[in-house]
Amino acid sequence: MPEKNQDYGKIRELLRQGIELQASGKKEDASALYEEALGILGSYYARADVFRKERIKRQMAGLQKAIDGMKGNEKGVNSSWKGGENIIKELGLTITHGEGPTMNQVAGMDELKKELFLKIVYPMKFPELAEDFNVSSGGGFILYGPPGNGKTFIVKALAREIEMNFIYVNPATLMSQWFGNFEKNISLLFRASKLLSPSILFFDELDSLFPSRDRSQSDASRRGVSQFLNEIGGFTSGQGNPVILLGATNVPWQLDEAVTRPGRFDRLIYVPPPDRSSRESIVKNFMSAVSRKGEIDYSSIGEKTSGYSSADVEYLCRHACQNVFQRAIDKSGDDIVTTSDIIKAMSVIKPSISAETVMRYEKYRDLKSGTSV
Ligand SMILES: Nc1ncnc2c1ncn2[C@@H]1O[C@H](COP(=O)(O)OP(=O)(O)O)[C@@H](O)[C@H]1O
Ligand SMILES: [Mg+2]
Repeated sequence: MPEKNQDYGKIRELLRQGIELQASGKKEDASALYEEALGILGSYYARADVFRKERIKRQMAGLQKAIDGMKGNEKGVNSSWKGGENIIKELGLTITHGEGPTMNQVAGMDELKKELFLKIVYPMKFPELAEDFNVSSGGGFILYGPPGNGKTFIVKALAREIEMNFIYVNPATLMSQWFGNFEKNISLLFRASKLLSPSILFFDELDSLFPSRDRSQSDASRRGVSQFLNEIGGFTSGQGNPVILLGATNVPWQLDEAVTRPGRFDRLIYVPPPDRSSRESIVKNFMSAVSRKGEIDYSSIGEKTSGYSSADVEYLCRHACQNVFQRAIDKSGDDIVTTSDIIKAMSVIKPSISAETVMRYEKYRDLKSGTSV
């Protein structure tokens, strides 16, 4: 029947325009178009047979929800943010928005950056599209890998990049500061992160929250931990409150099994030590802020620093620069930093990552690769 097709063509066009307007922040205009579409659907509903009615009713409900959501957002978000901010302050934590290092300051790690966007950022930014491709969103992510290779660093950069409220939690300090109030505070923290959505709730050094079971734990902290597990259980399946749940650890094998169960921190991402070209980039980044430098053979430094963590490489550069600075003060030699200064520093600053260490992480990764995405 031509009339019906015309109706649907019109509805499709209204929705297409509405989505565009919504994406560019024109929520009122978008709402108006959605309401027009809703009107057409309404008249169509009246004419439809009983089977079609069900389907149209569902479409109308979806549309109404989108309209309500946009209206709610306009007045809602900021006032709920205020509430969240107050809770965070009371808990002795800080919340940042759009601060931290930029993704460009994170040297190398190109694969990891792509992975983070594909698994975390895009599903959150484009939920419908993610659904079309059966790409799941939500859940909790753990970054793991040897210390000093940018787990904390890249999460901070991610938070800046996607301009979400970022709540940084270091459980080790929390456990002592929240002594006696741990359970209550954990649930407050989760409530705040929902109020602050879209937000990232990041538990750094996650292992300190879940010491292995054979280590003695006080009753209070055990209760806190089970409270925590309950909270994330309900959390990762929650809809309409986009909160990214992240954790980081240097010792993933020390985490209690309960932590990585489905519905909790069930997605594991390995952050390996920097490869040769990443090490080279870290040196370049560091040296770009040093004006008294000669020719530097970045490629050869990258090659010679196998086994150095990102933090080691940075420390190596800092050490070399301090030495030359000292020389400049003493007037005891060349006062510009060159390749050989950095190479010389390698006799003092040693690599912190052994082949054995890497193997241990890779073994863990292979073990988990069947259960992770
Ligand atoms: N990819 C990187 N690019 C530039 N600097 C890095 C990188 N990774 C680590 N760093 C430097 O090393 C420091 C330690 O890294 P961090 O993120 O704390 O390591 P982790 O959390 O994995 O133990 C950072 O503060 C940063 O200065
Ligand atoms: Mg860290």
